[in-house]
Amino acid sequence: MVMFILREPEMYVLEARDVRKAFGEGEALVEALRGVDCGVRKGEMLAIMGRSGSGKSTLLTLLGGVDVPTSGQVLLEGTDLATLSDDERTLIRRRRIGFVFQSFNLLPILTAEENVALPLELDGRAARPARDKAAEMLELVGLEKRRSHLPGKLSGGEQQRVAIARALAIEPAILLADEPTGNLDSASGKRITTILRELVDKHEQTIVLVTHDPQVAAIADRVVYVADGKIEREEINRVTPVRPRRVVSEKSA
Ligand SMILES: Nc1ncnc2c1ncn2[C@@H]1O[C@H](COP(=O)(O)OP(=O)(O)OP(=O)(O)O)[C@@H](O)[C@H]1O
Ligand SMILES: [Mg+2]
Repeated sequence: MVMFILREPEMYVLEARDVRKAFGEGEALVEALRGVDCGVRKGEMLAIMGRSGSGKSTLLTLLGGVDVPTSGQVLLEGTDLATLSDDERTLIRRRRIGFVFQSFNLLPILTAEENVALPLELDGRAARPARDKAAEMLELVGLEKRRSHLPGKLSGGEQQRVAIARALAIEPAILLADEPTGNLDSASGKRITTILRELVDKHEQTIVLVTHDPQVAAIADRVVYVADGKIEREEINRVTPVRPRRVVSEKSA
């Protein structure tokens, strides 16, 4: 009996193929993305860097299915998001994609735990299991003692940890983060990057994050640099272990 491990290193969880995005028309036409190819593998952390206005947030928005490209494809687990109806795309986003923003975007009248439970309840989960899952996620980001706090009573770093817990509650195929440390002091930012790295190392979470900060980008496995709507270059910080997708056994001849 010989065991073969089929390796499919080019199997991306999320992939952009020749993605273009234009806004406006005529004199006001802005080509925010001009043919972007990139992808992220399971359990990999990809950082997107580039100057202001280079197209980073536009790319993340398209990767997250919030908007569709003018041309090209965005494939999430093999499905081209542009071929879905708006309702189907909303559903995929709600169930498979976790989003974290620079400005946290927590609901001020809900406690930390209620904020984290909300996406689950919106997806039809009963209150009790949603709360239990929320408590578990808050523990994961070290906030088990802040469950009943309103966002206004939490520090910026703590609010961002709640936002990460909320994004993770649905067990997303991919976590997308747009400058998640952009509004934080360096100590709180460090804490956030440590949490993100642990999610990859301990839980095989796939992450794409946009950052201006080279120290944040340094924790990623790979960094792509966007310039003027195109990927200018790529740097590999560390080699991601190829995670075998299938193990096939075959009789030897
Ligand atoms: N909804 C929109 N309508 C018109 N133009 C847009 C829109 N969104 C983005 N743009 C333009 O597309 C270009 C890329 O914007 P984007 O927000 O992706 O840049 P960015 O790299 O995220 O910048 P920053 O680092 O400042 O966040 C910019 O020129 C911007 O003005
Ligand atoms: Mg941006």
